[in-house]
Amino acid sequence: MEKQEIRTFGRRHGKKLSARQQTLVDELLPTLKPTTGDILEIGFGAGEHVRFLAKNNPQSIIIGAEPFMNGVASLLSAITDEKNNTVFDEYKNIRIWADDVRDFLRETDSKFNQIWILHPDPWPKARHEKRRLLSAEFLNTLSKYLSTDGEIIIGTDHWEYFDWILEQIKSTDLTATIPDMEIIETRYQSKNKAGTDAPKYLILKN
Ligand SMILES: C[S@@+](CC[C@H](N)C(=O)[O-])C[C@H]1O[C@@H](n2cnc3c(N)ncnc32)[C@H](O)[C@@H]1O
Repeated sequence: MEKQEIRTFGRRHGKKLSARQQTLVDELLPTLKPTTGDILEIGFGAGEHVRFLAKNNPQSIIIGAEPFMNGVASLLSAITDEKNNTVFDEYKNIRIWADDVRDFLRETDSKFNQIWILHPDPWPKARHEKRRLLSAEFLNTLSKYLSTDGEIIIGTDHWEYFDWILEQIKSTDLTATIPDMEIIETRYQSKNKAGTDAPKYLILKN
């Protein structure tokens, strides 16, 4: 029997979507289903950074994966013109996987130049630690989807989770650097639930 995967995310649905958001989910989302791409963002929340990537990498296909449908609906609203629900030109390179990224990875043969994971759920209680997405097992899986010079870029303001990820990396063949970098503020970064001074970043390569 196949091993049951641990669920790494919380709820999939929040407050009721607006009529426009529901239309976008029903009609536009199916047309944005990804097959292959160049840059992947896992757990994009409301999608601020996916939009940033799309604008700044116009030649690349940007795939965002997120199972929380209200976040998906926020991104769909932000990339479309409310007059006619069509995607703005600068966002035409965005594709959306509205579910667990691990299901997408099983069906794509992409090799990504970048895989971004910003503010992964820290699951801070000891009994929930097994829900953390960035286990050695998952990092090993991700490493197979990197192009030759491809990078996994991780950011978190939860420093204890950061240290835990560093421990996980020891059980992989990935090499880690800790860059001094800043990126645009995502929704979770502005919440700063961990109460730390700033996010810490990690860049992983094969
Ligand atoms: C704390 S939020 C951060 C959202 C966003 N990156 C930000 O910085 O605002 C973590 C997100 O990861 C998503 N997530 C967790 N497990 C996931 C998985 N297996 N596949 C895709 N997304 C996942 C959750 O649904 C949640 O929206």
